[in-house]
Amino acid sequence: MTIRLPRSRHRPRPALPEPRRDASIDIVPMRRAHVRHVAAIEERIFPRPWSAALYLSELASPATRAYFVAIVDGAVVGYAGSMLVAGEAHITTVGVAPEWHRHGVGIRLLYRLVREVRGRGAHALTLEVRMSNHGAQELYRAFGFVPAGIRKNYYPEVNEDGLVMWAYDVDTPVYEARLDQIGRRIGARSRDRR
Ligand SMILES: CC(C)(COP(=O)(O)OP(=O)(O)OC[C@H]1O[C@@H](n2cnc3c(N)ncnc32)[C@H](O)[C@@H]1OP(=O)(O)O)[C@@H](O)C(=O)NCCC(=O)NCCS
Repeated sequence: MTIRLPRSRHRPRPALPEPRRDASIDIVPMRRAHVRHVAAIEERIFPRPWSAALYLSELASPATRAYFVAIVDGAVVGYAGSMLVAGEAHITTVGVAPEWHRHGVGIRLLYRLVREVRGRGAHALTLEVRMSNHGAQELYRAFGFVPAGIRKNYYPEVNEDGLVMWAYDVDTPVYEARLDQIGRRIGARSRDRR
């Protein structure tokens, strides 16, 4: 007799490479083929995960959206995206597979994303983050984000407020110098420095 497991447990999770310090992490534009891998990570790290369909609809609006994935040994280990409207880039998502946390994936994704939206005319960046998510806030502070307000119960599924953060004047030489410093820290290659 065949034992049928519930669908979500039956579906194998895409294998990810073992985390290691010397891994080469490539940041490339997200394509439709990446989406199921992105959605698989999303389900593991967010209480209210975006569906694959939602990511596909984001990719269908390339004029206002920018999405990237981090690839190690051919596998998606993280992703980040933004919606750009009237010079303001809203960072819509940043996620890294749990086993790859603190391996420099998130900072590389944000670096690439911020370079991209600046190149498309962004002068300010904004995002919301859970009040208790101090790790993510630490990462965002490195990119010049500062707290600007609170959205009450923005995350009802975890009963938590959202901290609104902004990074202003990202189109200035001062901000360029900040990005260059981050680029040196992560050993950004020239093709990442657009
Ligand atoms: C937040 C997140 C994207 C960070 O990605 P990451 O790949 O682990 O981050 P990095 O390794 O690039 O970290 C870069 C720097 O950010 C800061 N940072 C990142 N995670 C941190 C943590 N948990 N605690 C403290 N500082 C942290 C550190 O300064 C770190 O540099 P260091 O490791 O040299 O000290 C990742 O933890 C994640 O996916 N979390 C779950 C989803 C999530 O919370 N997304 C953000 C929603 S707004």
